[in-house]
Amino acid sequence: MSLVKKDYKKITTNTLLEMKNNGEKISMLTAYDYTLAKIVDGAGIDVILVGDSASNVMAGHETTLPITLNEMIYHAASVVRAVNRCLVVVDMPFGSYQGNSKEALSNAVRIMKETGGHSVKLEGGSEIIDSIQRILTAGIPVMGHLGLTPQSIYKFGTYTVRAKQEEEAEKLITDAQLLEKTGCFAIVLEKVPAKLAKKVAASVSIPIIGIGAGVDVDGQVLVLHDMIGMTHEFNPRFLRRYLNLYEDITGAVKKYVSDVKSKDFPNEKEQY
Ligand code: KIV
Repeated sequence: MSLVKKDYKKITTNTLLEMKNNGEKISMLTAYDYTLAKIVDGAGIDVILVGDSASNVMAGHETTLPITLNEMIYHAASVVRAVNRCLVVVDMPFGSYQGNSKEALSNAVRIMKETGGHSVKLEGGSEIIDSIQRILTAGIPVMGHLGLTPQSIYKFGTYTVRAKQEEEAEKLITDAQLLEKTGCFAIVLEKVPAKLAKKVAASVSIPIIGIGAGVDVDGQVLVLHDMIGMTHEFNPRFLRRYLNLYEDITGAVKKYVSDVKSKDFPNEKEQY
């Protein structure tokens, strides 16, 4: 039995809704550059997230907070140039949408105009609803992000599982319903108990895409560099590594260094 119910030529926000309604799981990965985005899109991913995790993965910052709007635009424009089929979602960076919905709109417009991306993602629920509402008035599709929202790491104090307590779990469900009512086309749900994630996915009609949220949601997202094992120090329980590129690349570089030193490279056929 095929797990792909329909051969979609281009993925849109409507396609994701159709997938939820048809019970087809949505696949999503991050990408931040042209070369990897081309591979990921060509391999059939449904959604590429140009995540602000670029702050950690590409720039080496400890958190997602330092990355700027200009840097996100650079990454997103590179990704969009590579993509033929998948939907591209661009994270709005910390400070670009909280507290001032007019600025949020003009920053979202910059992302859409300067990158060619298809939608934006914002972290939070009721606290940022004015910004979401205003961005939507411009016809820009918005993806929500609830549960562990890394831009709020200094409020949480830890990257541990969120919404284990009743009060936070109830707020999470209310926020998911509010995001749906406001017009978000999907929500990323990060690091919450699987039972709660299942409840959230059942309580809204828009897709819930989980990371560390169990299998009973409408799709899954991982950070590409973690999933292909280019990073090796980050080992959360929810991460499945499909490759071990950290070791493979280390081995290749060591061999190259040794070949250069020993004059094995280049050989006669590798010169003019
Ligand atoms: O920035 C990111 O990579 C994300 C994912 C963890 C969902 O927001």
